[in-house]
Amino acid sequence: MPSTGHRSSWSNRWTFMLATAGSAIGLGNIWKLPYMIGVNGGSAFVLVFLACIVVAGIPLMMCEIMLGRRAQRNPVDGMQALAHEAHAPTAWKWVGVSGLFAGLLILSFYSIIAGWVLDYIVRAASGQFHGIDGATAKKYFNDFLAAPLELLFWHTLFIFMTLGVVARGVNAGLEKANKILMPTLLAILMVLIGYSMAAGDFARSAHFMFAPDFSKVTPVAVLSALGHAFFSLSLGMGAVMVYGSYLQRHVSIARTSIYVALVDTGVGLLVGLAIFSLVFANGLEPAAGPGLIFQTLPIAFGRMPGGDMIGTLFFVLVAFAAWTSAISLVEPAIAWLTENTSLTRKQSAWLIGITDWLLGIAVLLSFNKWQDVHLLFGLGIFDTLDKLTSTIMLPLGGLAMAIFAGWVMRANHVQEELGLANATYQLWRLTIRYIAPLAIVAIFAYLTGLIK
Ligand code: TRP
Repeated sequence: MPSTGHRSSWSNRWTFMLATAGSAIGLGNIWKLPYMIGVNGGSAFVLVFLACIVVAGIPLMMCEIMLGRRAQRNPVDGMQALAHEAHAPTAWKWVGVSGLFAGLLILSFYSIIAGWVLDYIVRAASGQFHGIDGATAKKYFNDFLAAPLELLFWHTLFIFMTLGVVARGVNAGLEKANKILMPTLLAILMVLIGYSMAAGDFARSAHFMFAPDFSKVTPVAVLSALGHAFFSLSLGMGAVMVYGSYLQRHVSIARTSIYVALVDTGVGLLVGLAIFSLVFANGLEPAAGPGLIFQTLPIAFGRMPGGDMIGTLFFVLVAFAAWTSAISLVEPAIAWLTENTSLTRKQSAWLIGITDWLLGIAVLLSFNKWQDVHLLFGLGIFDTLDKLTSTIMLPLGGLAMAIFAGWVMRANHVQEELGLANATYQLWRLTIRYIAPLAIVAIFAYLTGLIK
């Protein structure tokens, strides 16, 4: 594959791993996974989710990093160059194009939820949760959603935070932010776990999450676990691909993918353990749904000694996690712009930032003034963007990448890039050609059924 001249790369394999873990660990782990565990009956869902990470998540993550590193380009030109190398139609570049747009669309609503988190840092720190009950917690949340200017303020701040990092480039921006934020995030997580072991009902939480109860494994739980495995590992839109394109040749893709998947899953499960300990110790409802961290946890923070501090730390943790994920949502588009136009990184960041800021305004209005605006499938703006990206664009993107790597690229090129022992390689190849595509088609079919 011809080189593309000078291009940034990660300083070493640790910074790549930190950045990829930073992308993976996000609202998906801390906001979504615990409430999905709660809604889907606890341990059964956890076991299926773990199986999905191993069977489909890790092989697909290896696939995306492999594609990126071989191409050494942004996802659009990268797919085109790889297709050219394989004598396949260059229309494969549309996989990259769709991924680039998926990232922009995801950020438009991700930024709104991250904005809620920023607001909740201030609420926790100012002691607003003291002694509140369920009804009050709900009222706070609903009043907040009904206030477009407040939502706009936090959304604007989060867009600035995200594009501010991306504008500084791979080393001074992405790498440095992850180097600071990820260790802090892990330290805060340890404090929270320690606290919830001491003050919460840790035993009951562990039992809820891990005591195997296969009677609760339903087809619905299996399929939503699989879909969430992709979202949680940031797969299907080229985020991991573009990170892989900055990776040096000698680093083992398989080992890195396994570490990242372990850390991502570990953090999700630890956060879940901490949250459910507090939920059970305070007699709250584990199946509270998407409001779990915004409407349920504040009640627990409001009751516990030192709750202001713990609550503030918790929301700071969520904000850091969301921040390092959001960076990866725009990097494919930024890489494409800087590699194809005369715009500098800074100018590209402004362009993407303004675009996403405007899109986000439509999303935040859909919680109040534009509540009755319906787009696809009769859904509101927020739900449309969420469903369109996570249930359609990402699975299709992942499917296309698996087919490309498994059926279109020359096997010896793939093997050369992955550098695996033969038996491991054959196992990976089997997964990427048959198991992962079939699994994705299954979720896709199921989820399109759900939208109706
Ligand atoms: N994985 C992140 C989370 O769990 C979200 C995310 C970041 C993502 N980049 C992505 C999801 C790319 C899909 C594709 O919150």
